[in-house]
Amino acid sequence: MKKQKVAIRKLPTAVPGLDEILGGGLPEYSFNIIAGSPGGGKTTLVHQIMFANATPERPAIFFTVLGEPALKMLRYQQQYDFFDLEKVGTSVIFVNLSHLMLKGDLDAVLEAIVKKVETTSPSIVVVDSFRAMMRMANTPSGNLDIESFIQQLAFLLTSWQATTFLIGEYSEQEVRNNAVFTIADGLFWLSQHVERNSIVRKLQIIKLRGQASVPGLHTFRITDAGLQTFPRTFGLTKDQETNTERRRISCGVAELDVMMGGGIPVGDSMLVAGPTGSGKSLLGSNFIAEGLRQGEPGVIAIFEERPGPYTRRAETLGMEFKKPISESLLKILYLGPTFYANATTVHPSPWWPSKASRTSCVTLTQHFPIWSAKRHRR
Ligand SMILES: Nc1ncnc2c1ncn2[C@@H]1O[C@H](COP(=O)(O)OP(=O)(O)OP(=O)(O)O)[C@@H](O)[C@H]1O
Ligand SMILES: [Mg+2]
Repeated sequence: MKKQKVAIRKLPTAVPGLDEILGGGLPEYSFNIIAGSPGGGKTTLVHQIMFANATPERPAIFFTVLGEPALKMLRYQQQYDFFDLEKVGTSVIFVNLSHLMLKGDLDAVLEAIVKKVETTSPSIVVVDSFRAMMRMANTPSGNLDIESFIQQLAFLLTSWQATTFLIGEYSEQEVRNNAVFTIADGLFWLSQHVERNSIVRKLQIIKLRGQASVPGLHTFRITDAGLQTFPRTFGLTKDQETNTERRRISCGVAELDVMMGGGIPVGDSMLVAGPTGSGKSLLGSNFIAEGLRQGEPGVIAIFEERPGPYTRRAETLGMEFKKPISESLLKILYLGPTFYANATTVHPSPWWPSKASRTSCVTLTQHFPIWSAKRHRR
């Protein structure tokens, strides 16, 4: 007889795209390490998770051990849209243990954490930021047994009926050579890379026990809404969905449709290359305008030209874009040159009108407009 599997509940992270990357959400009661470079978004990521899941009955507790001073951190975190002041103190509880840590009383730190957890029965426990403790151990006055302290802390975090996080600033090399990382069920790596003079943030799930996650580096950004991730694939399964529709749609130029055997197959992506002034952008505008004539919503992503001049130029050529924009049938995304390195920015996202059928992506500098006749999923 087949044994019944224990079902692991998955918590929503409330970070757009991240649940897809994780393979459905964050495994409940897992012990996770969030590592990365300074300013990588570690503290913000856990705040998003805490505010989405904490309730007064099962709160989230955030322990500041030696990282960013608690009050300062709260001032910054309050700027994000997801931060809900009404939840502070009831659903999301902040505990500052820096004073004990600075005194070097590691036992007292552990004791305070255990006491608070045992009296509160939290659903989420966060300790931020344990790398700072290791640095303290390397100062002349710091002859503390930090390694053993962190291991004890990790064992505690893994033993509670709570989803737990240790946040630390680490180099990639250290992540691979540290015992604490072996204990962890989940290991998240947040980094920043320079690509063509732009900073691109990347997230990697180095491990996640109990479920399959999408491997590799996923781009993310931080805005007023917090973190937003762009999964490298459409999650683990969605990309298996094949487009069975073999219909062709008009590209907006009748003669070209004839040459292509009736237009562009629905779901295809077209790369339009050519020298300056050869009409690449115009072809993209025609493609979108034709869609609008058929009642198909569209998206135009522009990297260099501003939306104003772009729509005005289209207007002089007989393509009326202002009305469809006001009716939410057309969305023009101005991404700006800083996004060159971040192609995944043009990814189905909340910007998309709900049923956008056509996308025109114009990057003048690269001379690489890409059209997509895809039917985007929301
Ligand atoms: N509204 C915003 N829009 C865009 N980026 C923002 C916004 N607010 C914060 N950021 C970015 O988020 C970064 C801070 O993220 P966070 O504090 O979560 O990082 P961290 O990994 O915890 O850093 P540390 O190692 O210093 O503790 C800032 O450096 C800034 O680049
Ligand atoms: Mg931080």
